[in-house]
Amino acid sequence: MTRKVTKAVFPVAGLGTRFLPATKSIPKEIMTLVDRPLIQYAIDEAREAGISEFIFVTSRGKNALEDYFDAAPELEASLEEKGKDQLMKVLERTNMDSGAIAYIRQNRPLGLGHAVWCARRLVGSEPFAVILTDDVIAGDVPCLKQMVDAYADTGGAMVAAMEVAPEKTPAYGILDADDAGPDCMPIRGMVEKPAPGTAPSNLAVIGRYILPPTVMDSLTNATAGAGGEIQLTDAIAKEIEAGRPVNGFRFKGERFDCGSKAGYLQATVAFALAREDLGDELRDFLHRTLAMKTAAE
Ligand code: G1P
Repeated sequence: MTRKVTKAVFPVAGLGTRFLPATKSIPKEIMTLVDRPLIQYAIDEAREAGISEFIFVTSRGKNALEDYFDAAPELEASLEEKGKDQLMKVLERTNMDSGAIAYIRQNRPLGLGHAVWCARRLVGSEPFAVILTDDVIAGDVPCLKQMVDAYADTGGAMVAAMEVAPEKTPAYGILDADDAGPDCMPIRGMVEKPAPGTAPSNLAVIGRYILPPTVMDSLTNATAGAGGEIQLTDAIAKEIEAGRPVNGFRFKGERFDCGSKAGYLQATVAFALAREDLGDELRDFLHRTLAMKTAAE
């Protein structure tokens, strides 16, 4: 029987330079899609997948993240006094019990693999999930929950996968697997950011992983890979080389690349359109604006 996945690692040490100047003073993960910070989407998804221990790999300047998950006594007291129960409920989702959340510092930006490795002592000898908060996935069943359910049958390692256009493959970890394979498929290898024209498939890794603790051993001995960084992809590829199973999992849902401005904007519009309190007004505005633009052209 596979062991239940209860721990998740959130690598949030990145500088977020693509969103400067905003990220000069706020962590990228606190930026909002409508009114919820990116990190809240990731935490909610983890909770729905049964995660109960949350491990954040942070860096200097990320204190706002720690405050975000802490109780806010003055704010809570003021809302209570005014009888704002609805807002109290919204706040409740942000609070984490003491002991459920841990912060570890990555003191040098040596890559995603290194960031995950920083959490090795807290992960211990259990399988664990990794969630990259830049990848926001909308769907009926949260992506990590879909994976945890599939993992109960497969065990091993599992990475979320999505078909991308061939010219986009150099931006991702790419699976050596059949493009037309089933939704959950064993993979033959993985390569991080392959040079144009050399990708083994069009199946890209998206930022959701379930990993066995042996990946931490590979990361302990890791050397720099693509971009001069210690890559998580390389450590997972080592699992395959060692004869341990790694599955690619084609999730159901729409993925937004919130690490890019275009993806972030698209996610904002998609999530706002889906909201009962905002959708109609935004839809009207978009129609009017697009019609005016078209008429002016
Ligand atoms: C990271 C991973 C890459 C993966 C991608 C998904 O890359 O290294 O394998 O495909 O996330 O978003 P990054 O986007 O940090 O360059």
